[in-house]
Parts: sequence; C-alpha cells; structure tokens
Amino acid sequence: MRLDKFLSHHGVGSRKDVKALVKKKVITVNGNTVTKADMKLNPETDTVMVQDEVIHFEPYVYIMLNKPAGVVSSTQDKDRTVIDIVSGFEHYDLHPVGRLDKDTEGLLILTNDGQFTHDVLSPKKHVNKTYFAKIDGIVSDETVKQFQHGVTLDDGYHTMPGLLTIMNVNSAEQTSEVELIIQEGKFHQVKRMFEAVGMKVTYLKRIKMGNLALDATLSTGDYKKLSPEEIKCVRN
Ligand code: URA
Repeated sequence: MRLDKFLSHHGVGSRKDVKALVKKKVITVNGNTVTKADMKLNPETDTVMVQDEVIHFEPYVYIMLNKPAGVVSSTQDKDRTVIDIVSGFEHYDLHPVGRLDKDTEGLLILTNDGQFTHDVLSPKKHVNKTYFAKIDGIVSDETVKQFQHGVTLDDGYHTMPGLLTIMNVNSAEQTSEVELIIQEGKFHQVKRMFEAVGMKVTYLKRIKMGNLALDATLSTGDYKKLSPEEIKCVRN
C-alpha cells in the first residue's frame, strides 16, 4: 500500500497533508525518515511513525451509516449505493452488513470484515434487529401475540418470534406506530410480516442492531466510524 494512502486512511490527513509532513521529515518507516509520500509499504509488518507516534494498522473498519431512502444496499448498482455515500474509505472494499430496502432508512453498518457480517446476520447468532415502523392498520395486542408466535409469510416460511411493541395508535386515521425486534433478515421481512396479518408498512427505519442504537446526532446520509466498544455492542 502507498504510504500517503495508508496515512490518510488512518486519519493523519489528506494526501496533501502527508506530502507536507514528508517535507518536514517527521515521518519514519522502520526508523528511516521518509522522503517520498508515495513510497510503498507493507502495513502489516512495517512500523510507521508520525512525529514519534506509531500509526497502528487497522485491517478492518466499521462504519455506521444513517441510510437515507432512495439508495440501494449493495456495492454496485445502476442506482446510487450506500457505498457511494461514504467517502474516505475507498481502499477498504466495504460491503453493507445485510440489506435495507431502497425505501428503508436508518442504521446500516458498512465493513470489510466478512466474519463480522456473517456473525451479525446469521439467525443462529440471535442478534436483534430493531425497527421503527408506521403501519396502515390498527396494531392490537392480538397482533403482538401473533408476532410472538412467528407469522407465516407469503412463501409459506414461518418466521422466528418477533417482539412487537405498540408505540402509538391513531384510531381516526387507522394507523399505528410500532417497534419490532427480529433476529432474522429475510427479504422484505418486516413488510411481509405485517402483510401476513393484513397490514401495510408505510415507513420503515432500523434503529438498533444488537445493543448498538443509531446515533441520534447522525442526520440521514451521515456516517461515522464505530469505536471498538460500539462494535462489541452489535453482537448483543
Ligand atoms: N424488513 C423489510 O421489510 N425491509 C427492510 O429494509 C428491512 C427489514
């Protein structure tokens, strides 16, 4: 990897900043002062220091995105993708941890750590995914019970239990607001679970994965790097 890329991806500054630091002779690789910002290095074995501080190699990166509606959760598409939104991490080969529908908003993690993605998505690992939804229809205690037992989707699949909490019911408008916790991620699962009980999801936002809540300070389309503590929260 090029030194200037390595340093900009580890938050030292832009490639221009790195050039300036090289000019100042404050960067060393394995103890040797760097003279070329674009020199090649092996980030796993070489020791890079900037102003006497070691820059530790981070092989994996985890980003929390507040996904806006209108973008697709894949790495490549004819439409704008969640990867297109996030800049500064191009060399990491990011992928989304699961998919949110194009019209769904909220918490989506992007990473280059395939094992993490597998652990979070596997229903066997029981990682909770919490959604806030607006529903056309009156969600009742009976619906809550139905979800507790799992519901049968249009393709005959019987879901694992879902924990449904009624937040608000508007009898005049025949609409409801709910939170739903599920541990699976079948195609359009939340929408299809409500369809199974004769209702329609009109708005959907993921608000939590495991114990990691969507950061309330992130506007839609904003993103941030997750800290090691936050990453641990995801696996419940
Ligand atoms: N369930 C859905 O129906 N859509 C999503 O985007 C996520 C879960």
